[in-house]
Amino acid sequence: MSVRINIKNARKQFGEVVVIPDLNLNIREGEFFTLLGPSGCGKTTLLRMIAGFNSIEGGQFYFNDTLINHMDPGKRNIGMVFQNYAIFPNMTVRKNVAYGLTNRKIPPAEVKKLTDEFLGLVHVDQYADRMPDRLSGGQQQRVALARALVIHPDVLLMDEPLSNLDAKLRVEMRTVIKNIQKSVGITTVYVTHDQEEAMAVSDRIAVMNGGVIQHVGTPKDIYQRPANLFVSTFIGRSNVLKGELMVKDEIPYIKLNSFEVPMLNIRPEYLGNQKITISVRPEELLMQKGEGDGIKATVDDSVFLGLNTHYFMHLEDGTEVESIQESTIDSIIPNGSVIRLMINTQKVNLFTEDGSANILIGVQNDIETQTREEG
Ligand SMILES: Nc1ncnc2c1ncn2[C@@H]1O[C@H](COP(=O)(O)OP(=O)(O)OP(=O)(O)O)[C@@H](O)[C@H]1O
Ligand SMILES: [Mg+2]
Repeated sequence: MSVRINIKNARKQFGEVVVIPDLNLNIREGEFFTLLGPSGCGKTTLLRMIAGFNSIEGGQFYFNDTLINHMDPGKRNIGMVFQNYAIFPNMTVRKNVAYGLTNRKIPPAEVKKLTDEFLGLVHVDQYADRMPDRLSGGQQQRVALARALVIHPDVLLMDEPLSNLDAKLRVEMRTVIKNIQKSVGITTVYVTHDQEEAMAVSDRIAVMNGGVIQHVGTPKDIYQRPANLFVSTFIGRSNVLKGELMVKDEIPYIKLNSFEVPMLNIRPEYLGNQKITISVRPEELLMQKGEGDGIKATVDDSVFLGLNTHYFMHLEDGTEVESIQESTIDSIIPNGSVIRLMINTQKVNLFTEDGSANILIGVQNDIETQTREEG
């Protein structure tokens, strides 16, 4: 059985140091949910609270309607996969996978059937009788995954399970993990600080910073309409520009140095003249040669990467920006060229000057700001 995880007002302290002040989160049944954030933001700490390996200084943790705060870790029916595979080096692959079942006094015939099933699921059945040191990193991580899943846990917790693998295998394994999670349908909490990995595997992502959840949403929602400037710069690359919002004849405009462009999708509560912070992804900053409309910029450097060419430029006020253009058959725009930049206003994001809130319509954020009363 898969469960819904409900976390209310969670607080974590190590001595006097508060690592998680007050965290609320609802993880849906069967969902692939990722905690994403920079090193030290509290991802592992929160995962260990769910697992029962960390004390809880405040708040309530529920699996469905069961309060688990004081439940023994062994009784929570959790499968776990960590960064360092944590499989037993002195047991064959088969014995590693069977371990949790044998431990639960399940009859040998049933152990064999389940072990075979899960060895097959992660495609290591042909190595069943090998010792782990004769497997590759990716194969060992599959064994760890099979071992976690074979006990039919209610929840699967994974903490940076791919970080010890090389780049190519990491990309392969994330598809493996996602497909297995979907076929088993188990509620999964996955921790990573790799935003691309998070986008590739997750149904929903919680972006954390300093023990505080910043944005909860689908990869697409978070990438396209980040809730604040931190999320915008953490997920993918963004140019951060200082500008102004101006309302003339009830029409809002972005003003950036001497460039102005109308921007119609401002949230009503933010309609008014003010300084703003603008974030534009490099691929949404379009370069045009010569004079004309647009933001004036000077090319400082460029890197040709085949499909795309990356240009590094500075604006009139000195702000450095990066643009990614599809490489053309024409020559690369030389350093020192003065060009004009247009922004794709559908895809640009506007924030309050301090970056704390996105002022555009259409931000989808499932963040829990207060404890929800359960009926
Ligand atoms: N046992 C502990 N005692 C004291 N402080 C701790 C302990 N465990 C973690 N911390 C602190 O809590 C904060 C959050 O740590 P945590 O391990 O949860 O970060 P993380 O988000 O998992 O980072 P990373 O991506 O580097 O794994 C850090 O500042 C860390 O130093
Ligand atoms: Mg960690």
